[in-house]
Amino acid sequence: MKVAVVGATGLVGSEMLTVLAARNFPVTELIPVASERSKGKEIQFKGKQYKVVTPDEAIALKPDVALFSAGGGTSLTYAPRFAEAGITVIDNSSAWRMDPTKKLVVPEVNGAVLTAEDKIIANPNCSTIQMVVVLNPLHERYGIKRVVVSTYQSVTGTGVKAVQQLNDERAGITGEKAYPYQIDLNVIPQIDVFQDNGYTKEEMKMIKETNKIIGDDTIRITATTVRIPVMGGHSESINIEFANEFDLDEVRALLAKQPGVVVVDNPANQEYPMPKDAHGKDEVFVGRIRRDESQPKTLNLWVVADNLRKGAATNTVQIAEKLLEKGLL
Ligand code: A2P
Repeated sequence: MKVAVVGATGLVGSEMLTVLAARNFPVTELIPVASERSKGKEIQFKGKQYKVVTPDEAIALKPDVALFSAGGGTSLTYAPRFAEAGITVIDNSSAWRMDPTKKLVVPEVNGAVLTAEDKIIANPNCSTIQMVVVLNPLHERYGIKRVVVSTYQSVTGTGVKAVQQLNDERAGITGEKAYPYQIDLNVIPQIDVFQDNGYTKEEMKMIKETNKIIGDDTIRITATTVRIPVMGGHSESINIEFANEFDLDEVRALLAKQPGVVVVDNPANQEYPMPKDAHGKDEVFVGRIRRDESQPKTLNLWVVADNLRKGAATNTVQIAEKLLEKGLL
């Protein structure tokens, strides 16, 4: 399988290379793609050196599949051109997620929707992915009425520039800024731009994408998304109101048997998920599982995942694996 990674020099792109190798995706030829600036740069993959090419050069090389993580603008311009050339695109940007003609996929939740017609497939937002893998089995069992989520998101979700800003601030260097404020020793309750309704774009992504992936617009969701000075791994406090009564032991059992989910929940030993422990892992970790005692049929959870892995690279590669499994690649 000829695999192009568009954005191979970026944070998510390089994680995609790690995940492709770690999961033994059948790559016979890698085509690393980045901007004109990076053309000719050498990239290591499974002990071999590959030269970075531009998107136009990549199309001419006719890969079977292209994994995109090079920003929304690059996806809007190039994904249709790759698709027209018969190359299946799995896109990590927000460019196509809410397009009604495109599938938005988390394989464990809605991998079944993929068909031979899907030439551009969207990978959801990092915060959405780790939330839906936990919500879906609970929704199937108890019916979710409403979700209140607050996030604690790592700087790696913003890209190379943000990691540099945090490192600069810690080293006392004044450099280029990815955020409007200092991020070290701080918390910024803004991710992406503000919308007319007072929510940020990231918050609206979590709401709309969750409804689309689970395939149920009746689930009411409200989100507050927050950037914190953590180098890898997003955390989420999730409050879920169900239509039906639940049993706490059954909730734990349902989550424990969900593929890709690991329950870490032992208050007696102060055990709960933390971003430091999720780093470099493909799974979503859930803990602090308890009843919301302020109202009936309501549950509190704490969910952590490596945003560059399950939140981005891993989910993209898993979509490619699903296509292979279904004979669509
Ligand atoms: P480059 O390194 O050449 O700028 P991050 O989100 O971590 O900052 O990474 C963004 C990725 O998207 C990088 O690999 C970057 O390549 C790539 N990229 C940005 N603009 C383009 C473009 N016009 N065509 C192809 N790749 C691009």
